[in-house]
Amino acid sequence: MQPSHHPTAVSRGAVAANVREAYLWGKEHLSACGVEAAALEAEVLLRCALGLTRAQLYARWPAPLEEGAWRRYVELLEQRGSGRPLAYVVGEREFFGLLFWVDERVLVPRPETEHLVEVVLEATREVKDPAYVDVGTGSGAVAVTLAIHRPHATVYATDVSPDALAVAERNAARHGVSGRVRLLHGDALAPLLQAGLRAHAVAANPPYVPRSARSELPPEVLAEPEEAVFAPGPRGVELHERIADQARGVLREGGILALEVAAKWDQARQVVGALEGMGYREVRVVRDLAGLERVVVARWG
Ligand SMILES: C[S@@+](CC[C@H](N)C(=O)[O-])C[C@H]1O[C@@H](n2cnc3c(N)ncnc32)[C@H](O)[C@@H]1O
Repeated sequence: MQPSHHPTAVSRGAVAANVREAYLWGKEHLSACGVEAAALEAEVLLRCALGLTRAQLYARWPAPLEEGAWRRYVELLEQRGSGRPLAYVVGEREFFGLLFWVDERVLVPRPETEHLVEVVLEATREVKDPAYVDVGTGSGAVAVTLAIHRPHATVYATDVSPDALAVAERNAARHGVSGRVRLLHGDALAPLLQAGLRAHAVAANPPYVPRSARSELPPEVLAEPEEAVFAPGPRGVELHERIADQARGVLREGGILALEVAAKWDQARQVVGALEGMGYREVRVVRDLAGLERVVVARWG
């Protein structure tokens, strides 16, 4: 089969002659649909449809494509071509070297959030059996990663979205840490305060995009849950401040608060100011490899 001259009209009928042709055809289709990384994404979708690793895919380049695999591939291409984010189409995303199930109920975990996990692991290295909190757990990526990297830790993971908690539950089970990741439905740290639970560290990647920035967001971000993306107030750091305020009643003596911020809208400075005003000490900003402000960390007591 030759690549179609009308790639947007993906034909379910005509099966590509081999894996390579299927790839080229998918790339053209995605490109015509306005997908920027069309080559990379066509490869990801083809691997997903065939259930192959990258090396296996290249080894099968000249192999014929079965009709069932072709139909699966076309279905995935159509979803992506119509604007559904790649991670939701594939159904999973890698975070900290681990795979997490994702769909429209949760934010797609971002590489920058790995800094949040690193900060917490590093700051609690000396604590024997740590208790952690992940506020706004979404897919559970932060909570599950902390549990995996500290096999004696207990992690409390809260979210206002019952749908998100259902995804986090699946991910905890996928990674065999369901017994140590306690999912709590509720607002910020309220479930812990109500139950009188204490922790050595509170981590959060709260929604931080001000609604006024909506028009700057790419369609992929607009496909993510509103409550995961948009902050409850105009500055973007309102939930950060509420979590910091509540965390004073949850953190043990010397406990760590780590909050991810946007690298713009002056968020790091605002959060630093709020934490200092609340009596936190050792308040500092952690930057990523590109030098962007990513996490505000502080110690309580
Ligand atoms: C930016 S997402 C972070 C998801 C995940 N922790 C990650 O880093 O990939 C924010 C999450 O916070 C949740 N959320 C929003 N407001 C909340 C609140 N007041 N209390 C608890 N969770 C909240 C959302 O449902 C969403 O799952």
